[in-house]
Amino acid sequence: MLGKKKLLVGGLSALVVGALLAGCPPKKELKTEVGTAEVAQKVYVPPGKYDEFYAFLSGGFSGQVSVYGLPSGRLIKIIKVFSQDPETGYGYTPETKPMLMTSHGFIPWDDTHHPELSQTDGVPDGRWLFINANNVPRIARIDLSTFETTEIIEIPNSAGNHASPFITPDSKYVTAATRFSVPIPQKDVPISSYAENFKGTLSFIKANEPGKMDVAFQILVPGYDYDLAHCGKGPSYGWCFFTSYNTEQAYTLLEINASKNDKDYIAAVNWKRAEECIAQGKYQEIPATYYHNYYDEKKHMAFSEVKKSVKVIIPKDCPGVMYYLPTPKSPHGVDVSPDGEYIIGGGKLATVIPIHSFSKMLKAIEQKAFEKEVDGIPVLKYDAVLHCEVPKPCLGPLHTEFDGKGFAYTSCFVSSEVVKYDYKQCKVVDRAPTYYSIGHLMIPGGDSAKPWGKYLLAMNKITKDRYLPTGPELFQSAQLYDITGEKMQLLLDFATIGEPHYAQGIPADIIMKNVKKIYPLAENEHPYAVKAEKDARVERKGNEVHVYMTMIRSHFVPDNIEGIKVGDTVYFHLTNLEQDWDIPHGFAVKGSEDAEILVMPGETKTLVWKPKAPGVYPFYCTDFCSALHQEMQGYVRVSPAGSNVPLKYYTGTSTAQK
Ligand code: CUA
Repeated sequence: MLGKKKLLVGGLSALVVGALLAGCPPKKELKTEVGTAEVAQKVYVPPGKYDEFYAFLSGGFSGQVSVYGLPSGRLIKIIKVFSQDPETGYGYTPETKPMLMTSHGFIPWDDTHHPELSQTDGVPDGRWLFINANNVPRIARIDLSTFETTEIIEIPNSAGNHASPFITPDSKYVTAATRFSVPIPQKDVPISSYAENFKGTLSFIKANEPGKMDVAFQILVPGYDYDLAHCGKGPSYGWCFFTSYNTEQAYTLLEINASKNDKDYIAAVNWKRAEECIAQGKYQEIPATYYHNYYDEKKHMAFSEVKKSVKVIIPKDCPGVMYYLPTPKSPHGVDVSPDGEYIIGGGKLATVIPIHSFSKMLKAIEQKAFEKEVDGIPVLKYDAVLHCEVPKPCLGPLHTEFDGKGFAYTSCFVSSEVVKYDYKQCKVVDRAPTYYSIGHLMIPGGDSAKPWGKYLLAMNKITKDRYLPTGPELFQSAQLYDITGEKMQLLLDFATIGEPHYAQGIPADIIMKNVKKIYPLAENEHPYAVKAEKDARVERKGNEVHVYMTMIRSHFVPDNIEGIKVGDTVYFHLTNLEQDWDIPHGFAVKGSEDAEILVMPGETKTLVWKPKAPGVYPFYCTDFCSALHQEMQGYVRVSPAGSNVPLKYYTGTSTAQK
């Protein structure tokens, strides 16, 4: 078969190739083997052959998710989530536009930060990936059998959805919290009335049923900046932890005004207790407008519903629902050890890494070891909850992951390094430089109950001299370390899309076995699908023309259409009749003001076109699908408005001739 040729390189040899392509200095003896097809053939290793991982990196300001193979560092997919994608038509087609609907209207872009894999018993299970939109607060679900976004829920009463979407070990909830406190509900007030009028919310979103995401409840909290979260597991199951900074409640020049307090807080939320309060009616139902969008895989189409209210818990009405743990200083990350006992804060201005103990926290709550209360929320005594402060770790500690062997790894932005320490003994055992200015780091499963502690991925904010220069804008840099030995070892650099803010990793075989290769044509319920060439047709309804068109190697049916008039809106509904893996066809028509569409085997998609002038317009397949790909083309004749050229369509002389 003359299909697309793909160079698949995985496993250990890919490491070498990856390192060379990334431009970081590889081991010397390998340097002669660069880049020839011969070498690439020699190093071909079938996927899944060695210990391989999928790594899902957020795209940051790209709004998408990029998927890499590890340890090769090769980009294998961009998943379309919150940004329109002209390559496939996502967010342009009438089928997918509803996915990007919000209470603010259609939003073509967002900022993704934290991918989070679904879990069963605290272990990533490979069913779904969740990811937040930071700017217009939303959470998306990506189905990992198709690598497509299938659901997006908007978060009401929120702004800057950063502490999101961190998951409970049973995937019951994902979290969302306000990085920016705002008036809740929104109203027109002076910004200087911050202390009086601005509040935060911590939200719990139902996540374990596809198509049924919903805001289960929100907790109304003091107007701080809620930054990151992680949920408890094992003994701390039932709790989630959120960092906060700006307990100073500054609203201008935060770099100074929000850096005054010696300690801010980690909020410990007992979501089991919250569920009790909801069941007992101890909440307020507050009007709020927000969208829930979901994709029907059989109809090949997205739908939106608008929700009108949300349940809000006021902490003083639900005693025991949350506590504050004082934490130095402007904490950023909060991470829970695999056994669920240790809660590590990343005080970005602190000189130590504070580690809280969950069992000490429970004891402190029982003994009411409170320092004070804020809006009905008890603040626990620092010494009563602290396990230890890791001394002299680094500068600017941010985020922590675990290797499952008793060690924690914290990223340090200011000193550009990863520090490895025994978190029970509170003793630093190793450190490795990163190039440069690391933000998050990721160990596959490293924030779960079962880390696969083989590799560590550093996601760096600054690239500088790591690649060939590409003008003022450089791709950001990810770096892979081997963490199987006592000392971390840098293996390779690779370039990333957008800002690789955070990532998740999972062994390849968990996902590979469930990956779909086609959409079954027999199950296609798209209202404009055609399942055989004989059913292809063109129908006029006033000024609307619907083209029911099929595509298969290497022709369209119909490929000649006449009788379209200026003033018409033409809907090309393309069904790809192929039922073979990796045979998409594309469709573009000259002068279309929309993106192309890329149609997967068995799928139907629509391109909307408003021709502006009489003439004959070519259309063609945009995806190199066969040896006769260049022959996969056709014409549309457009006549002046009011002309009486009859509607006519055909391919060749025998098929669909009318
Ligand atoms: Cu179909 Cu190229």
